Amino acid sequence: MGDVKAEVKNGMPGKVTFIDGRGDLPMLEITTAWSTAEVYLHGAHVTHFKKRDGSPLLFLSQCSRFAENQPIRGGIPVIFPWFGPREAMGQHGFARVKPWELKEFAPSPDGSVSLRLRLPDSPEASSFPPCTVEYIVTVNESLTLQLSVTNNSPDDIFSFENCLHTYFEVGDIKAVSVKGLKGVSYLDKVEGFAQKTDSEDAIRFNSEVDRVYLNTTGAVDIVDQKLKRTIRVEKQGSVSTVVWNPWVAKAQQMPDFGNEEFEHMVCVESGNVAANIIKLPPGETSKLTVKLSSAPL
Ligand code: BG6
Repeated sequence: MGDVKAEVKNGMPGKVTFIDGRGDLPMLEITTAWSTAEVYLHGAHVTHFKKRDGSPLLFLSQCSRFAENQPIRGGIPVIFPWFGPREAMGQHGFARVKPWELKEFAPSPDGSVSLRLRLPDSPEASSFPPCTVEYIVTVNESLTLQLSVTNNSPDDIFSFENCLHTYFEVGDIKAVSVKGLKGVSYLDKVEGFAQKTDSEDAIRFNSEVDRVYLNTTGAVDIVDQKLKRTIRVEKQGSVSTVVWNPWVAKAQQMPDFGNEEFEHMVCVESGNVAANIIKLPPGETSKLTVKLSSAPL
């Protein structure tokens, strides 16, 4: 499919290049005046985003698999139509392990680049109401993701969970604080889904953290003293936020994750999960939008 460039009056045009990525999986390399990004059709998975003179925003495991039917470890897995384990059907849905179709890619005159991808039909989808699932990735100075689900059934409500399970790169997890969730109730998965309310100004990390925050729409800041930057996660159409770091023991159990890599990542995931499951009436569309940006401390 070659390169596509757009004319712009000032600065550099956006550019999209279609190449074979790791594991020979098809990948789009995106360059704009402000940033670079990489998107695999496998899982509609954004594996990389970096501002020109900054550190990568997204963590990607050195041990990740890049293979059919296997999730990529890092970047932004698209979790749909369920979050967490489901009997006989695996964890976190099937969207993250399907090859998505690229419907459109457009460098626009303002220099940004957008991709529109669609989840194809699959045998796994047949146990759910018919639906159209699309994902728009927009790259400029920030990275914006929009997952939309349309319920095409004439009669049935479509109940599903969704989540953009974003892995962020951090300098040192012990020098990170995650802000914006004070006063929010959560399920503590490390303590058997105990229900708690966060009373701290910020989450700090010195053991495994695996929390599903419910009924929260606010932005979250990841303050990184080592890389001297704050990452801002803004969202719309999402009332759950999941915060996860596997720490030592769980890192050792994951075959596609390095033993020490937990020091350099944190997941702040935006979606609608658990008690916040979406119940979409026939004919309606639900949109989950997440904007990721960063600024020096
Ligand atoms: C998080 C969950 O969202 O994803 C964790 O809260 C889970 O419990 C993690 O371990 C990673 O899941 P997976 O399936 O990608 O290994």
